[in-house]
Amino acid sequence: MIPNHMAIIVDGNGRWARNKGLPRSLGHKAGSERLEEITLYAAKKGIKYLSLYVLSCDNLKRSEDEINFLFKLFINTFKKKKEIYKTKNIKVLFSGVKDNLPDLLLKTMDEMVEITKGNTGMIVNFCLNYSSRMEIIDAFKRISKEKVSLDNIDLRKYMYQDLPDIDFLIRTSGEQRLSDFMLYQASYAELYFPKVLFPDFDKNEFDIALAEYEKRDRRFGGINYENTNN
Ligand code: FPP
Repeated sequence: MIPNHMAIIVDGNGRWARNKGLPRSLGHKAGSERLEEITLYAAKKGIKYLSLYVLSCDNLKRSEDEINFLFKLFINTFKKKKEIYKTKNIKVLFSGVKDNLPDLLLKTMDEMVEITKGNTGMIVNFCLNYSSRMEIIDAFKRISKEKVSLDNIDLRKYMYQDLPDIDFLIRTSGEQRLSDFMLYQASYAELYFPKVLFPDFDKNEFDIALAEYEKRDRRFGGINYENTNN
């Protein structure tokens, strides 16, 4: 079985660059190229939902130079690549806080959503300036404003995007933490922490990850009696 909703916490661009004696910016550039390749590959493999953590709200604490570089990289990539997403039948969504993002970036994000909104293939959810805690608070603000009853509420309907639960969550670079990423949606996700730095997370690594997912015994709190001696 392949995961229905897969998520990747992109990590290790900086270390990849440092290992090669390059500036961090080139690590991000390599990461963005790898991300496009992996996104198209995931679509080809039949993944239905792919959430990508490309910038956390906390990342904005980085140097102004790095953040400005990242904003420009997002703008240029989205501008250049939107036609590819359109022709590959991929629908693009964004999750995150709009505050603190430059107008031009917001505009290119809107264009990306608009041009792909009729697509029926894989849904890519870019989590950009995203915080899971903030998303939950924003959901409750909406619930309170709309005076929705909390009895039997499905919180997912009030998140930035109404997506199914995450089945498989990968964080590259060997770090083993969630860093405020989809804490609610990942409640039953299988976690996988390959050591490889994101710019080296190629199709082969993706296949290895899928094979790892295949091996997992998903029980959702129940018991698979076939796998026990009782
Ligand atoms: C993590 O590496 C990466 C980021 C903080 C964000 C950058 C993500 C990309 C450039 C890929 C997405 C690009 C597009 C266009 C959607 P890190 O800097 O935390 O690495 P480190 O932990 O090794 O320093």
